[in-house]
Amino acid sequence: MAIEAFDVVDLIRTKRDRGILSTEQVNWLVDAYTRGYVADEQMSAMTMAIFLNGMERSEIRDLTLAMIASGETMKFDALSKRTTDKHSTGGVGDKITLPLAPLVASFGVAVPQLSGRGLGHTGGTLDKLESIPGWRADLSNEEFFDQLEIVGAVICAAGEGLAPADKKLYALRDITGTVEAIPLIASSIMSKKIAEGTAALVLDVKFGSGAFLKDIEQSRKLAETMVQLGKDAGVATTALLTNMNVPLGFAIGNANEVRESIEVLAGAGPADVVELTVALAREMLALAGQPDADVEAALQNGQAMDTWRAMISAQGGDPDAALPVARETHVVTAPRSGVLVRQEALPFGIAAWRLGAGRARKQDPVQHAAGIDLHAKPGDTVTAGQPLFTLSADEPERFARALEALEAAYEIGESGASVHDGGPLIVDRIS
Ligand code: URA
Repeated sequence: MAIEAFDVVDLIRTKRDRGILSTEQVNWLVDAYTRGYVADEQMSAMTMAIFLNGMERSEIRDLTLAMIASGETMKFDALSKRTTDKHSTGGVGDKITLPLAPLVASFGVAVPQLSGRGLGHTGGTLDKLESIPGWRADLSNEEFFDQLEIVGAVICAAGEGLAPADKKLYALRDITGTVEAIPLIASSIMSKKIAEGTAALVLDVKFGSGAFLKDIEQSRKLAETMVQLGKDAGVATTALLTNMNVPLGFAIGNANEVRESIEVLAGAGPADVVELTVALAREMLALAGQPDADVEAALQNGQAMDTWRAMISAQGGDPDAALPVARETHVVTAPRSGVLVRQEALPFGIAAWRLGAGRARKQDPVQHAAGIDLHAKPGDTVTAGQPLFTLSADEPERFARALEALEAAYEIGESGASVHDGGPLIVDRIS
């Protein structure tokens, strides 16, 4: 048996006592954990020490590079187009990738969106798109590259080969209360994005009730850490810091989020979804050398919609097919007249999940027609008896648990009362 370069207990003690790991130690740790020499319980102690004591910038960079080195990396050198990608840290009603990828690709840029399925209250982009009849998430390498060259936009499942160390580590963090550590989140996200080989990357880092990190300063720190990691790896990276206190748009679910995305691509759609789509598109196109691209015009004149249709068709989907509709609905009405002063993202995300739009375990299916459609947003005047939101589910017995989650999620105040809508949508830009 080969002699190991380090003793993992020494490394755990180093992090426990606020010391700094060397490049060699981080490389060895990630490799030894991936091949099973370092046990889960040892790595759990290590991730908890990192959660509690943090990591230096050099350690975060080393951790990211070691996770990239644990698997394959992709290269887009053979493409005739520049590549630009986006990553969101996830939120409630966050369907932005759907209109964004075809919008940006419609300017002749390649957008390779390797996406995931949802777990918990935040939805997964692939789950949303799978509500389109015929559409498939799994593409061969050849199909992926051909579609990038011809259509420009691809949204598909990430292969198993990218950053396998992160997959193992993320699964461990998930069950040991160590997900919400900035060095671990930053290295996890950026190892996959850098391994994916994009030349440019725009990060949508969320804060607030429906986000991973609730606190804006923590989110800002995460954004700064990721932007730095991207730049260190030669990926042009910027981040927007965005508000996730209120659900994005009116639709929370899968099929209904696709419907809302198509409205945006048709030049309409909710103001907040359009604002964020346009802002992220501008950032992505600026990094790809097109700072003056008229993205609003591309939503109005059908250019982005044409690319959407081509993208869906290329992956077997029928862009004209009817989207699934739930068997049962339950409408919640305003108990009094006034102004909707609060609509909190997290409980709405949890309720949609309980209706069947999300999954509790990786292997569970999602119900594509399940979800919530909002009929009012914070600041809107409502009258007693007016529908506030509609719950949709295939199994009506799910309504009670969803309604339980929503009991304290919204509030109607006096007419003209100050509106606590969580503030502006885009709070800062980090580059
Ligand atoms: N998403 C990831 O890919 N990794 C994290 O650690 C958190 C969110």
